[in-house]
Amino acid sequence: MKAPAATIDALAGLRSPLRYPGGKIRVAAQLLTYAPDHDEYREVFAGGAALFFRKSNAGRNWINDSHPGLYALYVTLRDNFRSFASLCRKQTGPLRDVFDYWANRRDLMNGEGDENLVERAVQFYFINRTVWGGRVVYDPSRKSRLYFSNPPGWNNLERKLGHLERVSEKLAGVKITCESFEKCLGRLSERAFVYCDPPYMRDTYCHPTDKLYDKSFNEAHHRSLSQLLGRTRAKVMISYDDCPQARELYGDAKWRFVELQWKYCGRHAVTKENKANGIKERKVSGRELLILNY
Ligand SMILES: C[S@@+](CC[C@H](N)C(=O)[O-])C[C@H]1O[C@@H](n2cnc3c(N)ncnc32)[C@H](O)[C@@H]1O
Repeated sequence: MKAPAATIDALAGLRSPLRYPGGKIRVAAQLLTYAPDHDEYREVFAGGAALFFRKSNAGRNWINDSHPGLYALYVTLRDNFRSFASLCRKQTGPLRDVFDYWANRRDLMNGEGDENLVERAVQFYFINRTVWGGRVVYDPSRKSRLYFSNPPGWNNLERKLGHLERVSEKLAGVKITCESFEKCLGRLSERAFVYCDPPYMRDTYCHPTDKLYDKSFNEAHHRSLSQLLGRTRAKVMISYDDCPQARELYGDAKWRFVELQWKYCGRHAVTKENKANGIKERKVSGRELLILNY
């Protein structure tokens, strides 16, 4: 589906509506300076989709993420903003109780496809705004990660809804899917621009309870992604943590590396070990790689 021409540039420069671990909200403008001309845009690991919201819409746009809550949120904002806003306005009373209500609705977390989309969308959005670090974990084995720690995240609801209404307009005509990345990389032309921001390498090697996303990446996923991207005709931009494994996977001559550095939104956790060593919570700084085939 094609977005109406009049909306294309008016809706560039939007901020992602989500607090998203590993999200590119602060660096989206910087990343966009590397974007090529294109007719079609695909964001394969959308998360908070910071790049998509920041850029102008292309003729065709597709955002994908394997988290079902994100899918419910984006589809509902695109197709049913009024019902979403109305249910958000009903989230009153002690916020901790509201949080517990949504965090215990396992039936919705297990929802698939287009069932109960509005409720699933509000569930995801409410938890994202108020949970620790913006991490919306649906994996029952990591339920303890759903920790209510940011009640101000639900302040100024009407202002948030004003922003979400623009997000909803931006999503008009956008294809939204909840698949593993392989499908979103099929049938690409030379005029397509693909942005990939997969879970970072370091996430693959960290302890299961520290992983940032419900669906984590193992070594085979990283390899299979690099193989698929190596074969495509499209223009590809990939974000990774700067580490030997990423440099090796994209060591072929068709790829070039741009080294970047920034402070992450996340912080070092205050673990017992850190405390004992006198390390306080602080912003994490890291070296990043942008990997391009053009
Ligand atoms: C680094 S985050 C993306 C952040 C995003 N660029 C932003 O600005 O917010 C990586 C995303 O990949 C998703 N993901 C993990 N495994 C996936 C898979 N196999 N296929 C598609 N998405 C996946 C996670 O749910 C997560 O949202």
